[in-house]
Amino acid sequence: MKKDIFWAPSYNWKKKEEKLLINGISFALEVAELFPKLYELCINGTTYEKLQEKLTEIDPVFLKRVLKDLKDIGALVSEIQSPADIFQGQSAIFLQGEKPDELFFMNKENVEKYRFEKSFRKTEHSKDGIIELKKTELNPGYKTRKSIREFDMSEIDMDTFSRCLEILCPLNEKDDEKQVPAQYVYPSAGGLYPLDFYLLVKAGRVENVPQGLYRFDPVERKLYAVNNKIPLERGFQFTVNKETFVASAFSVYIFFDAAVSMPKYQDMAYYYSILDTGFAAAYFEMQTYSLGLGTCSIGDMRFSKISEYFELEPYQKYLHTIEVGKLK
Ligand SMILES: Cc1cc2nc3c(=O)[nH]c(=O)nc-3n(C[C@H](O)[C@H](O)[C@H](O)COP(=O)(O)O)c2cc1C
Repeated sequence: MKKDIFWAPSYNWKKKEEKLLINGISFALEVAELFPKLYELCINGTTYEKLQEKLTEIDPVFLKRVLKDLKDIGALVSEIQSPADIFQGQSAIFLQGEKPDELFFMNKENVEKYRFEKSFRKTEHSKDGIIELKKTELNPGYKTRKSIREFDMSEIDMDTFSRCLEILCPLNEKDDEKQVPAQYVYPSAGGLYPLDFYLLVKAGRVENVPQGLYRFDPVERKLYAVNNKIPLERGFQFTVNKETFVASAFSVYIFFDAAVSMPKYQDMAYYYSILDTGFAAAYFEMQTYSLGLGTCSIGDMRFSKISEYFELEPYQKYLHTIEVGKLK
């Protein structure tokens, strides 16, 4: 039987005054008593039947309830975690016990000053062995690139739309006899291309594409309609990104398809897919500018609020969004 109950590796727990704290969430004494046995059983994966077998002293109804509560807070998982869950706890190590200064970053002036200082930061170096480089001219296309958050609301024609997505498609035709792997504009670890792309297109913004969510197939150059159920009232976007989302003609959602690369690269497959995303997004962005379109990357949103509409497999994990529209 497949193991389908795992302790989420990034989740911590400790006993405090007869209570159990899991990632800071308090559980009652009876749950505390179940630990650490339950934890030990789940750390390398188990099944419900195995747990019942090993925890005979626990009332099965109670055990089911505890498992559900632990699943609800993300401490027990049956599929790979989101990047947010995986990276959870890293900043606490970085801060070495200090509290993050959230108030500082809520002040616009502070944010701008911080950005100025960090983006122009000097590299720490020794005084010896310095080699001067020439300041050279970049390709003009690179110099004008910037994130676009306001868009012209007129329709993008099908030719431009197709060209925009062409950058994510294979350069060569599939030849079953020669079996040459697909060659893409952007690189990917092991040439596996484990990214899945979905597009949310707004009404009247792309020629011949009705409003809705589509799965983009880069090999066939096709959009497959998933549904038109995503509520566009923006509840899933953080405040800073709501206007950008409302104005964009379409959004590109990028997912890690673990079934493609985890068999080969195991844990590092996740990390590589994030790097692949950066490459794909960079080429995609430059392509959009060359076509009179603009983009804005959206690093985070409340994806759980819309995840059900994508009808995803457990091995597909949300990574990134790019808002796209016509330049004003
Ligand atoms: C990973 C990533 C996440 C980002 N998230 C957001 C975002 O949520 N909202 C936004 O308006 N811009 C976002 N951006 C765009 C950056 O704010 C922008 O690239 C940066 O301020 C530099 O400005 P420029 O792109 O105009 O040169 C993101 C960019 C990246 C690469």
